[in-house]
Amino acid sequence: MEHLFDKLTEYGQENVYPYHMPGHKRRGWGRLPEDMYLRDITEIEGFDNLHQSAGILRELQNHAAVLYGSEESFYLVNGSTSGILSAVSAALPSGGHILMARNSHKAAYHAAYLRNLTVSYLYPPMMEEYDIFDGIRPEQIGEALEMEPDIGAVLIVSPTYEGRISDIRGIAEAVHKKNIPLIVDEAHGAHLGFTNDFAENGCQAGADLVIHSVHKTLPSLTQTALLHVNGSLIDRDLLRRFLHIYQSSSPSYLLMASIDNALQYIEETGRDVFAAFAGNYKKMLSGLRACKHLRFLPLEHGKQDVGKLLISTKMSSISGKQLYDILLKEYCLQLEMAADTYALAMFTVNDAEEGYERMESALLQIDATLTSAGTEEKGISGARLLTDGRICSVGKRFPVETSISHEGQLLSRAWDGRKRYVELWESAGCRAGEFVNLYPPGIPLLVPGERITPQLLAVIRHYLDTGLNIEGLREEKPETTGEGLGQLQAGEEGREKPETMGEGVGKLEAAEERIQGYHVKRKRAWICILDECKPRS
Ligand SMILES: Cc1ncc(COP(=O)(O)O)c(C=O)c1O
Repeated sequence: MEHLFDKLTEYGQENVYPYHMPGHKRRGWGRLPEDMYLRDITEIEGFDNLHQSAGILRELQNHAAVLYGSEESFYLVNGSTSGILSAVSAALPSGGHILMARNSHKAAYHAAYLRNLTVSYLYPPMMEEYDIFDGIRPEQIGEALEMEPDIGAVLIVSPTYEGRISDIRGIAEAVHKKNIPLIVDEAHGAHLGFTNDFAENGCQAGADLVIHSVHKTLPSLTQTALLHVNGSLIDRDLLRRFLHIYQSSSPSYLLMASIDNALQYIEETGRDVFAAFAGNYKKMLSGLRACKHLRFLPLEHGKQDVGKLLISTKMSSISGKQLYDILLKEYCLQLEMAADTYALAMFTVNDAEEGYERMESALLQIDATLTSAGTEEKGISGARLLTDGRICSVGKRFPVETSISHEGQLLSRAWDGRKRYVELWESAGCRAGEFVNLYPPGIPLLVPGERITPQLLAVIRHYLDTGLNIEGLREEKPETTGEGLGQLQAGEEGREKPETMGEGVGKLEAAEERIQGYHVKRKRAWICILDECKPRS
């Protein structure tokens, strides 16, 4: 089979003068490698067109389908984000009703907004020990579909950011009983299904639409992803239409060559490398058993993915963010993310042995310096907050307050509605006018239209104080509403005692006092609310 990178290389050596885009004319400028420009072309003779593929790009996509076991696969150059937008848009008519996991990536919410969808949320069960969401259970889906018979599609995330895997086979069965499609955001699972050490992938397990970020867990350039489609529940022409809408009209050939390259890697060396990857990872986990205070999410076949090292600091004297900072500043180890009670390191097939050794040795050393102080109640988890009082698990009905479905198309109406900014700390009781996300991982803490509770404010303040990154707040009160989202991140300076904010806050302050070295600070911030209620005075 002809590979894109080879074809681009050959073309670069030919004597063809480019009277076309891109403007660099395949000649480098500045400090970027010349080679990169030489291979960066547009839809010229012989190179096909991603939006209407019939040549090499069609062949490569067909090949991806064979590899993943799908009926049809599409290369994506705008990340899984474009795959999720297209999948949701094609699975439901405008104004339809979707059932989706509340821990979905923001792209799923954006799709619901763009298509005016009514949204019902599924709250995954909590893994209390680690403060994270677990996989969704098929019974949850079955029950939700019985309760809301007009639901037209289901979207879940598996593996989650932390590597929790749902029983996709069971879920697909429950969803297909209603003759509606299942979309699996498998952005973190492009490696699944290639060895027995990994769970099967969504296509093998019967999902209708599966989205993979090739760049997340395989050796590929950022933004590269795949969308797979199976069965007859999805209108393929509609799917193509949305891919056309949401993707660039000038798809990068370098990015597409990178997808081809990563898939070639799987075929030619992947199976051996995957076995070595799983072996190295297990060896490291087993070495880390010597830690007395730090704990690690264990591997569980089909439930916890290989490669996501979740380091829980819950039983130790430090927070997840402090651990993240120590690993970076003292050991030069850059983690994927920090949360309140854990930090997350990602391993993939491309990690060298050094990566495992350095992490294991650093964590053992750090653990030896820790105590068990502050183990009882450290911080408040965003995942638990989202779940508390809003559970849609087996046996419980959607609470009206939090089930957006009972309030019509509130997400899109709210996001487009009249809004104003109020001081964050005075906003309890109001409805959010913008998304507020903890980033990473980009799962909304607040969706437009959702009620802002004192507990949520306590969590946000705690996140800001611990230096986590919150999207969707403003440091200054904007003159006008409805502009783009701002970012706010608490610095280390400025110690100031917070004022009380009502319920839920006592717990937070107590926790803060126990965490040595944390500054206690109440930074001014502004939040966008729906213009329908007065802030608390
Ligand atoms: C679960 C999940 N889905 C989708 C995405 C979006 O992926 P991409 O960055 O490839 O657009 C992310 C990104 O972090 C994610 O974590």
